[in-house]
Amino acid sequence: MLKKLFTLGTVVVLGSFPLYAGKFGNPDDVEFARTVWQAMTKASLVGEGAFVSQPYKGFPPHGIVLDTVEGEFSVANQEGILIIKRNYGGEKEPKQVMENPAKYLKAVTIMFRKQPGYDPGNGDWFYVKYSPHGKVLKNPKGVSLAGRAGAPGVGGCIGCHIGAPGKGFVFRHDRYPKQ
Ligand code: HEC
Repeated sequence: MLKKLFTLGTVVVLGSFPLYAGKFGNPDDVEFARTVWQAMTKASLVGEGAFVSQPYKGFPPHGIVLDTVEGEFSVANQEGILIIKRNYGGEKEPKQVMENPAKYLKAVTIMFRKQPGYDPGNGDWFYVKYSPHGKVLKNPKGVSLAGRAGAPGVGGCIGCHIGAPGKGFVFRHDRYPKQ
């Protein structure tokens, strides 16, 4: 009986909170996400007058038109790979978006690879979804999309990126072998 009650209790608790509760969107995650935004602004990677690359046609969930830049980046004394994907909407043609990227920008999604051990089962990536002006956005449950967002089999950033070819959590290429 006790065992049964325990099992029931566990199910109720797990059922009322997402399985990944507390894994991302914590105050520390949001603060680090803001620090990354500041560093990216300083480096002219986001914000007014940000460098853009040639936009290309994409698909949901990221956007109909996208542009991606990436490379080694240093933030708060941490060195890592930073991949910035800018998600545009309102125009379907990359050429039109290129005429005024700031006007069509809908969201900025990033992956920053932290030190080994941060999230070893999932490639150690720190994910964030920002508004065009750098506000950390929330998922429909009200949890900030910053940190180890999502989980295999549950959804979110990690739930989908786990399906990327090459097992590196990056869709576009396999340039970053497991660290
Ligand atoms: C339903 C699937 C799905 C979800 C959910 C998703 N992504 Fe992606 N993501 C993709 C696909 C597919 C690509 C490659 C698209 C392209 O660039 O053409 C991609 C590309 C990216 C890239 C460029 C690096 C790469 O993997 O090619 C970044 C950065 C990124 N996503 C961040 C995020 C963040 C942050 C979240 C969560 C807030 C997220 N993604 C949620 C499917 C997803």
